[in-house]
Amino acid sequence: KSIVVLISGSGTNLQAILDACERGDINGRVSAVISNKADAYGLKRAELSGVKAVVLSHKSYASREDYDRALQQEIDQHQPDLVVLAGFMRILSDEFVQHYTGRMLNIHPSLLPKYKGLNTHQRALDAGDTEHGVTVHFVTPELDGGPTVIQSKVPVFSGDTAEELSERVRHQELSLYPLVVKWFCEDRLELDGDTVLLDRQPL
Ligand code: GRF
Repeated sequence: KSIVVLISGSGTNLQAILDACERGDINGRVSAVISNKADAYGLKRAELSGVKAVVLSHKSYASREDYDRALQQEIDQHQPDLVVLAGFMRILSDEFVQHYTGRMLNIHPSLLPKYKGLNTHQRALDAGDTEHGVTVHFVTPELDGGPTVIQSKVPVFSGDTAEELSERVRHQELSLYPLVVKWFCEDRLELDGDTVLLDRQPL
């Protein structure tokens, strides 16, 4: 399977997926990594793994729609079976999202539907939550709103800082995302309307 990964930053999730492909855990290969930011460390990770690294800056485009069209063209050159959003800090236009329905995944550091958007760890702390976590979901036009594939929970300890909590969540992310990508690449995971099927069974 061909996987295209979109990033904006450090790329620790990207690295976990690259490693899982390298080990043969994932029946697929990362065909390209695309970043909207030229200084994203994840680009370096791609190069170190011999994967094509592309910078497509949103600043060169007049509108979101123009950028998303260019992005779609770049992605589709690699004929992806799966598009993986791994810390890609952009809101995506409906048209773009619809083009990849059922074949685009995102990871979000909260127990969705709680805390869509940014600063999830601080918001969980401020709310006094006793548990927090991470969600992998199919992408739909609603930001952080698509059908959930899987969540992983972590405890919140009293006195936790947002940094400590984020590290605890990050640890879960790095095993969860490769697992979901593995399922997808084995044709075990699909989206049927709003329902996620694993081995043809609704989750
Ligand atoms: C992660 O926290 C992920 O959940 C969120 O963005 C961050 C990406 O980190 N969507 P990295 O670039 O994979 O290190």
